[in-house]
Amino acid sequence: MPRDLTGLPIVITGAGTGIGRATALACARAGMPVALAGRREGPLREVESAITSHGGQAIVIPTDVADADASTKLIKETIERFGSLYALFANAGYGLRGPVHTLSDTAIRDVFETNFWGSLNIIRPALAHMLEHNTGKPDRGHILMCSSCLSKLGTPFTAPYSASKALQDHFGRGMRHELRPMGIHVSTVHPIGTRTEFIEAADRVSKGSGKSIPPPRAFTQPPERVARALLACLRRPRGEVWTSHTVRFAFAAATAFPQLADWGIARALRKRNPH
Ligand SMILES: NC(=O)c1ccc[n+]([C@@H]2O[C@H](COP(=O)([O-])OP(=O)(O)OC[C@H]3O[C@@H](n4cnc5c(N)ncnc54)[C@H](OP(=O)(O)O)[C@@H]3O)[C@@H](O)[C@H]2O)c1
Repeated sequence: MPRDLTGLPIVITGAGTGIGRATALACARAGMPVALAGRREGPLREVESAITSHGGQAIVIPTDVADADASTKLIKETIERFGSLYALFANAGYGLRGPVHTLSDTAIRDVFETNFWGSLNIIRPALAHMLEHNTGKPDRGHILMCSSCLSKLGTPFTAPYSASKALQDHFGRGMRHELRPMGIHVSTVHPIGTRTEFIEAADRVSKGSGKSIPPPRAFTQPPERVARALLACLRRPRGEVWTSHTVRFAFAAATAFPQLADWGIARALRKRNPH
């Protein structure tokens, strides 16, 4: 039986735009009270009113996930307002573009601070609550991290980003097995190119390193596609959430045949920059 999510509170980071926004709306429609987090208050307020105007429950707690104290406060405030916490979607993240040798240590560290440490900053206090308070329930909680299909393959000009997503993936798998006996589900989400503010945000922080080349529209998906898959995972927990079987199998093949993958990457780069 799929789980009835009605009344089960969830915290979503990066909830003001893109995948986080679409997921917040989908969770609220499923009856979950939603705590919306992100740095900019404006987009979060817009999502809040979209939810509450349809009878859903939402609160806004502006938070920078790279700040561990602020992240702990986010979880504490959510529990105070909703009375408990069932799920967490650590979704906040951004891309960085450029050849590694041209990127500063600070720029690379910052990506890890948000994408990886930002996930851990929020998971730790949420998990502490789930383990201490959601006792006596077979399903005590669900932690989801927005990784990426690129977690499975390092790619040129996005290596720090892919590496930060691989960290989420590896921690997710390890924690899944550590926590399952305690009734906590851990899932990683692996979207392909998704039509959000992601590219614009990456270009903003990567200024001077050349503009991103987005994948052709036919190979991208709307954020609602990821939100639907994530909701299905909340209802029937699974380890990894994928939204494209083709990409999933292509990346599995790339891991199994690294020389073939390198040949394909080099060919794509030559096509892009023939000189
Ligand atoms: N779009 C894609 O092609 C794609 C593919 C695979 C995976 N992903 C992953 O999907 C997740 C969501 O990205 P998206 O595509 O929906 O792009 P997006 O629209 O740019 O959303 C990213 C969100 O993260 C928030 N954020 C960034 N840094 C933050 C911080 N330090 N603290 C709190 N919030 C922060 C941003 O809000 P504020 O700026 O207001 O803080 C924004 O709402 C990311 O983890 C990304 O890596 C995206």
